[in-house]
Amino acid sequence: MTGASSSRPTALVTGASSGLGTEFAVQLADQGYDVVLVARDEVRLRALADRLGARGTRADVLVADLADPAARARVERRLAEPAVDEAPVDLLVNNAGYATAGEFVGTDPAVLAANHEVNVTSVLLLCRAALPGMIERGRGGVINLSSVAGFLPGRGSVYGAGKAYLTQLSQNLFMSVAGTGVHVMALCPGYTKTEFHARLGQERSGPGFLWLEADRVVADALEDFAKRRALSVPGAVYKAIVTVSRLAPLRIVQVLARRSGSGRG
Ligand SMILES: NC(=O)c1ccc[n+]([C@@H]2O[C@H](COP(=O)([O-])OP(=O)(O)OC[C@H]3O[C@@H](n4cnc5c(N)ncnc54)[C@H](OP(=O)(O)O)[C@@H]3O)[C@@H](O)[C@H]2O)c1
Repeated sequence: MTGASSSRPTALVTGASSGLGTEFAVQLADQGYDVVLVARDEVRLRALADRLGARGTRADVLVADLADPAARARVERRLAEPAVDEAPVDLLVNNAGYATAGEFVGTDPAVLAANHEVNVTSVLLLCRAALPGMIERGRGGVINLSSVAGFLPGRGSVYGAGKAYLTQLSQNLFMSVAGTGVHVMALCPGYTKTEFHARLGQERSGPGFLWLEADRVVADALEDFAKRRALSVPGAVYKAIVTVSRLAPLRIVQVLARRSGSGRG
C-alpha cells in the first residue's frame, strides 16, 4: 500500500501486472482513481504501485492467482466486504485473461479448465461480488475485457468461446443494472501490442494496421465507458469486422475469421 486518500474513487484492476491492465491502472490513476492491483506477479505489481504511489495515488497490491478459487475468494471479499480501512470499489476492470495454444482435442483438460477459471468463472464471480454494493450505493461500474475473437468462429482454443460469453454476460448485466446508477460495458479489442501473444508463444503476425496500441485501446474504452456505451470496440478496422460478423452469412464470417487468424487474440 502506498499513499492514502478517501475522497477519490477506487478501481480494482485484474491482470494489472502487464499490458492492458497496467495501462488501465495508469490511466485511471491519471483520472483521479485510487487503484487495487490484482495479478500473480507481486514484483511487477509492487513496482507499478510504487510508480503510482509516487504520484499521489493510493495503490494497493492484491496478489492472487485467479485460477485458484481460494485466492480468488480474497478478491471477491475485497469487492463485496471492504475492510474498515479500505474504500469500496467504484470501478471493477475484469482484465486478466490469456489464450491457450494448440487444438482443443490435444490440449490437457486441466489447462482448459484453468483457462476457463481465469477467463470466464472469475469474471462471473467478481461481477457477482461487486455489483450488489454498487447498486446499493447507486453508483459504480464494471468493464469486462472481452475480444473481437468472441464475434468470430475460431479454431483451436476455447478462448473465443469464453470471450463470446463475456460479451453476452456484459450486455445482459448492462440491461439488469439499468436505472440503478451502475454501468457495465464489454471491451472488445482486436490484436493489441501487449505480452498476450508472446505468452502464447506466437509472433505478432499480419499487417501492421491490425495491431492496436494498448494506451489507445484503454483511452477509447474509458471514453466509451464515460458515454455509458454497453460495448466498446476500439479501432475502425475492428468496428467494421464486428459489424460484418453480425450481418454476414456464417460461411462468409468463417472465411474472414480464417484470414484474420481468429482464436489467437
Ligand atoms: N492483446 C490482445 O491482442 C488482446 C485482444 C483482445 C482481448 N485481449 C484481452 O485483454 C486482456 C488483457 O490481456 P493483455 O493483452 O494485456 O495480455 P498480457 O500483457 O499478457 O496481460 C495479461 C494479464 O493477465 C494476468 N493473468 C494471467 N493469468 C492470470 C491468473 N491466473 N491470475 C491472475 N492474473 C492473471 C497477467 O498477470 P500475471 O502473469 O502477473 O498473473 C497479466 O497481468 C485479456 O483478457 C485478453 O484476453 C487481449
